[in-house]
Amino acid sequence: MHAELWNYERAFESADHVITHPNPSAVSLSVRASALVFSDPRSQNLLNLIEKIAASNATALVIGETGTGKELIARHIHALSTRRDGPFQAINCGAFSETLVESELFGYERGAFTGATSAKTGWFESANGGTLFLDEIGDLPQSTQVKLLRVLQEREVVRLGSRKATPIDVRLIAATNVDLEEAVRAGRFREDLYYRIKVVPVDLPPLRERPGDILPLVEHFLNVYKSRLHTNIPKLAPETIQQLLEYPWPGNIRELENVIHRALLISTSGVLYPRDLGLPAITTLTERSEPRPSLTSLAGSKPSYQTQAEVANSSTTTLETYQLERILGQLFESPPPNLFELVNSVLVKKAYEYSNKNQVHTAKLLGISRNILRARLKELKLIA
Ligand SMILES: Nc1ncnc2c1ncn2[C@@H]1O[C@H](COP(=O)(O)OP(=O)(O)O)[C@@H](O)[C@H]1O
Ligand SMILES: [Mg+2]
Repeated sequence: MHAELWNYERAFESADHVITHPNPSAVSLSVRASALVFSDPRSQNLLNLIEKIAASNATALVIGETGTGKELIARHIHALSTRRDGPFQAINCGAFSETLVESELFGYERGAFTGATSAKTGWFESANGGTLFLDEIGDLPQSTQVKLLRVLQEREVVRLGSRKATPIDVRLIAATNVDLEEAVRAGRFREDLYYRIKVVPVDLPPLRERPGDILPLVEHFLNVYKSRLHTNIPKLAPETIQQLLEYPWPGNIRELENVIHRALLISTSGVLYPRDLGLPAITTLTERSEPRPSLTSLAGSKPSYQTQAEVANSSTTTLETYQLERILGQLFESPPPNLFELVNSVLVKKAYEYSNKNQVHTAKLLGISRNILRARLKELKLIA
């Protein structure tokens, strides 16, 4: 499963000290995120697209509901680009008043307006050599839209109260959670700016449309919060897994993160039950058009027998069981010859290696007797 949990730490090493945001605590996890989850086929396609466009300097428009990971994608594009050693500046266009947003974006000279007692560098200038992320670009006032278009066309900015233009080398990534086309039709967003920024549109589907990401994300956040809260990772009751998969996640990944965080805080039993998630009852949620995937369909085919471990532990299904079932499901799709023998021998060999060839430890790890293990090791010619 490690291929899916893709290491992100190194990409952030250099960017960490330059990351700025109007509300740093809101992005603290994305800054520190050590892994990204792209497990669902739709997310993998997205990742491929991002890897292709990252190297270019093209302006990208990331479109997605709140909490789908727009900022994280923007940081990822930056981290994969040749600008990775330059700054990444994130600014939320909706967080500033109309008058403030221009001085924030373009900067100003001393005396440009009452109260401008000293000059200020704007975001475009401080993102020079790097990437500027403009979140909620649909919130930009019309007058600022005109100026932004000019900056993008001329590749230079003029601070408020100045006549001197400063050349800038900035890649722009914009994000929106509203339908900008609709905003253009309604006359709230300039059409020319819209076409200028949507050179590369990146559509981030809501979480409910990429169900294959849900459980890997659960595992990811369990790990993240386990380290932070110094707790153990609880097991998940089967009904909990079912609920996580069925819930439509209107707040997307951010909501899932909060649910896991809270569940870890309140659970005491070592097992997460549906009540620990505190999700609203499914029946009260908006109508769903498609049937939700079940654990069984996601995991490929469900074995018709119970394993010994399941018998011994039948009240809970761990994420590991789920992941194992998913890998098996993939193997069943294009089965290698002698599948049973293959899985069995890989299991025994790997356990034996993992236990440093200690037979007692291997037997214990696998939950079988030492005699059965020895017989199997002989068959596999691992011992004489
Ligand atoms: N693919 C992913 N893998 C792991 N965590 C993710 C992923 N996408 C988003 N997140 C996390 O979800 C939260 C919301 O992401 P964010 O980029 O702020 O969403 P948006 O900007 O669309 O509202 C952040 O904590 C982020 O780290
Ligand atoms: Mg955001």
